[in-house]
Parts: sequence; structure tokens; C-alpha cells
Amino acid sequence: MSKPHWRHACASELPAIIAIAARIHPDLPERAEVFAEKMRLYPDGCFALVADNEIVGYGLSHPWMQQQVPPLNGFLETLPGDADCLYVHDVAVLPDCRGGVARAYVAIIEDLARVSGIAMLALVSVYVTRPLWERFGFRPVTADAELREKLESYGASATYMLRDLADR
Ligand SMILES: CC(C)(COP(=O)(O)OP(=O)(O)OC[C@H]1O[C@@H](n2cnc3c(N)ncnc32)[C@H](O)[C@@H]1OP(=O)(O)O)[C@@H](O)C(=O)NCCC(=O)NCCS
Repeated sequence: MSKPHWRHACASELPAIIAIAARIHPDLPERAEVFAEKMRLYPDGCFALVADNEIVGYGLSHPWMQQQVPPLNGFLETLPGDADCLYVHDVAVLPDCRGGVARAYVAIIEDLARVSGIAMLALVSVYVTRPLWERFGFRPVTADAELREKLESYGASATYMLRDLADR
């Protein structure tokens, strides 16, 4: 298999992306329409990981507000006009294609944020990925009661994290 590379995804690739999501996140299901809305609202933030012309992973991000977490499986409705972070909704890669791809993805969204005039990356770490994100400069943020409530839909391990692009 050729070395996987990230590139923008297009709407016709959503079925492949959704199939990977169902495989990697069986306990965090989202409706197809929720994926489609992100592609419609912010295609610039929708990336596919490709190897041998096959989609083997995806990363979805969009401008958002710090300390705010869209509910899992919920619609964004609109993007904020005064966004102060680029929120990584999810990045997931098939097991055989991992190794270096998260690092490459973070580099891509750092560039995307900078050209969009956004100085902060945000995400919700799930499973045991917190050390992985810390390695890329993300720091856990103490969640207030409102944020904790929103994190609940992401499971018990959910940690809200920010990466200040001015730091490095
Ligand atoms: C998250 C995911 C995309 C990472 O892909 P990957 O190719 O393994 O990531 P990378 O190899 O680029 O980066 C991982 C880095 O963190 C390190 N790392 C991995 N697991 C770690 C851990 N548990 N603790 C500390 N560091 C860890 C790796 O050594 C690597 O660092 P390096 O580049 O300096 O060697 C992939 O594991 C995945 O799809 N997981 C399932 C879905 C998921 O959990 N998504 C995240 C939702 S928040």
C-alpha cells in the first residue's frame, strides 16, 4: 500500500467516510446528515486520508467558539461569524494505515487555522488519546459545569483540549 496522504474530501466521498466512522466509533454513532452538514457548511475543513486511491481515514473540523462543544450527532445549524477556534470534530484512521498520520493532520489544520485568521485549535479527546494530543501541543482545559454537561455525550473519557498556535 502506498504511503497515505491527506487531501480535501468531497461530498461524494461521504459514504466511505461514514463507513470508516461506523467501524472506528461504534459507540459514538452519528447520522449521515450530520456528516453531510459539516461538508456543506465548511468543506475547507473536511479532509480524507487516501492510500492507493482508497479512503482510509478522515478528519473533520470547522470554525467554532472556545469552551463550546457541539453535541455528538447534532447539527451545527450555522457557523459562528466571530469564531475564535478551529474545532476538530473527529479524526479517525483505519488501523493498518496509522503511524504518523495524526502528526500530518495536525500540521494541515494548523495551516488552515492560520490562513483563516484563527489562533486556537480545539478538540474533545476521547478514549485514551489525551497523551497523543498533548504530544502535539494540546492542553486539557478545566471544564465548567456547562461544558461538562456537553461533554457527556462523548463518553466518560472525554477531555476538552486547546492548542494555542502562538505557543510554538
Ligand atoms: C488518533 C489517530 C488518528 C492517530 O493516528 P496515528 O497515525 O496513530 O498518529 P501519529 O502516529 O501521527 O501520532 C501519534 C503520536 O502520538 C504518539 N502516541 C500514540 N499513542 C500515544 C499514547 N497513548 N501516549 C502518548 N503518545 C502516544 C505516537 O508515538 C506519535 O508520536 P510521534 O509522531 O512523535 O512518534 C488514530 O489512532 C485513530 O484513528 N484512532 C481511533 C480514532 C480516535 O481515537 N480518534 C481521535 C478522536 S479525539
